[in-house]
Amino acid sequence: MADYEIAEFLESYATALGPEPDEVIEAMGAQAREEGFPYVGPAVGGWLAMLARFSDAERVFEFGSGFGYSAYWFARELPEDGQVVLTEIDEGELDQAREYLDRGGLADRAAFEHGDAIETVERYDGPFDVVLIDCQKERYAEAFEAVRGKVAPGGIVAADNVVAGGSIDAGDLRAYFEEGGGSDGADGGADRSAMNGMTEGIADYLDTVRAADAFETTLLPLGEGVSVSHRTW
Ligand SMILES: C[S@@+](CC[C@H](N)C(=O)[O-])C[C@H]1O[C@@H](n2cnc3c(N)ncnc32)[C@H](O)[C@@H]1O
Repeated sequence: MADYEIAEFLESYATALGPEPDEVIEAMGAQAREEGFPYVGPAVGGWLAMLARFSDAERVFEFGSGFGYSAYWFARELPEDGQVVLTEIDEGELDQAREYLDRGGLADRAAFEHGDAIETVERYDGPFDVVLIDCQKERYAEAFEAVRGKVAPGGIVAADNVVAGGSIDAGDLRAYFEEGGGSDGADGGADRSAMNGMTEGIADYLDTVRAADAFETTLLPLGEGVSVSHRTW
């Protein structure tokens, strides 16, 4: 089986296994596919729900929410007094997110924040049980630095597009981390001079989170690739 066939096979296999979407998630997915909107997709959506369950999540923060697809998967897992904070620079996207969460009876578990996510997080105290980073790739490391002190011990920081999306080059990333990456390296680390900007943004993020005390990171190779970092203490 060719590499891309394995990826598609695993994506549809994981989607079929569940967790089950509801009719609102199905409608959001249909919109994303019709518009070519860069959403996480159902296999990753199901995993985000499971990450929320594993961490008994009550509070979730998203950097870049689009029209609310990933936030909806989180919101279903939260207790009635829980909260997912959606952030979005595009007001029209955020309005659609509000409508979709309302349609699913979940809007009272959501805060809808229009504006820059990294500025928004400064206004929240935390703690957050789960964080999803899915804004501009060049700003992922900055997003992590802004939120890391607000992640609950035992909490999770997930970041989308660590394998693909836009001009992200997974081959360059794999070679770089097989060489040891950057910020752990006493001698300045592996060479990333040939990487494009988006790829370097992901490399920078992964270096930052891997070097962060108390965080352990692994790769969830579904969708466009999600890094999952667990705050161990
Ligand atoms: C990949 S989409 C998010 C998709 C969403 N997480 C999902 O799977 O349903 C990225 C979104 O982040 C928004 N965005 C980019 N930079 C942002 C920032 N600094 N603050 C808030 N939103 C941002 C974009 O407008 C876009 O809608």
